[in-house]
Amino acid sequence: MSSSFAEDLQLALGQRPRSISPKYFYDEIGSALFEQICDLPEYYPTRTELGLLQAHAAEMAECIGPQAQLLEYGAGALQKVRCLLDRLEAPHSFVPIDISGAHLLSACGQLQAAYPTLQINPLVADFSRPHSLPQGSGKGPRVGFFPGSSIGNFTPLEALAFLKMAAFELRGGGLLIGIDLIKDPAILHAAYNDSAGVTAAFNLNLLARARRELGADIARDGFVHSAFYNSALQRIEMHLMSLKRQTLRIAERVYEIDAGETLHTENSHKYSVVGFQSLAAQAGFSPGASWTDPREWFSLLWLQAPA
Ligand code: AVJ
Repeated sequence: MSSSFAEDLQLALGQRPRSISPKYFYDEIGSALFEQICDLPEYYPTRTELGLLQAHAAEMAECIGPQAQLLEYGAGALQKVRCLLDRLEAPHSFVPIDISGAHLLSACGQLQAAYPTLQINPLVADFSRPHSLPQGSGKGPRVGFFPGSSIGNFTPLEALAFLKMAAFELRGGGLLIGIDLIKDPAILHAAYNDSAGVTAAFNLNLLARARRELGADIARDGFVHSAFYNSALQRIEMHLMSLKRQTLRIAERVYEIDAGETLHTENSHKYSVVGFQSLAAQAGFSPGASWTDPREWFSLLWLQAPA
């Protein structure tokens, strides 16, 4: 993993605009910081989605059906899936997929303790890349669970490619996916610029990780967190902004960056329910039920996969 981090960081610093995949946030420290983000008062998505899961899990389990092989894309702490597991009829197995290996295995240990009879088959992988899955039973469907609005990390074009891959992987079953809705930019701004500075620490951890894993020479106070809503593209962008003209050294390579220039670290796209449903339909899914909170900040969508 660290070799592809090295390659991708060097590629990122060599191109214009400079940009790198947000998947590199999630080393052990980054995964722990993300869990802190989920508890922040300003970060509404986790709480809102959990509320929807708690209120409507029975209906969602009805969509999923009996004896399902349940996959989770970007599994994280494995808290949300418990709402579904509590309601599913005779699930065949649960396959959480996450890039953060040690973090995934420890979350699986806790889940197994709470669900002793559940078959758990963790997969340490980048879910956006081709991966091979364990066989299901053949009796029930294969169903994907993709909570958290992590799909928003993809541009709509990348999301379409992911959805096409998922439509094939989940054929005969379906996908339950969380999306963060378009809303007042002030609410979005606060969610990605929390007053405790945890989101800033999460963003800056990318550089700390490069120092730790790659021995990168990057000045400790040379960058600041920048997050803003790009209304034309309906997304939050996170960047690391250079405070001065400076030189970064990674392995044998040297990179210059000017004051005010940035490394783009994350997109978090916001959708309308119908906008996302039409994207999913382009990938071959048939949109079904959807669940939205009263403030209309977040939705969970059921998407039936093609046969
Ligand atoms: C995990 C991708 C859903 O986009 O809101 C949180 C990540 N970044 N705060 C998001 C994140 C900054 C989060 N996702």
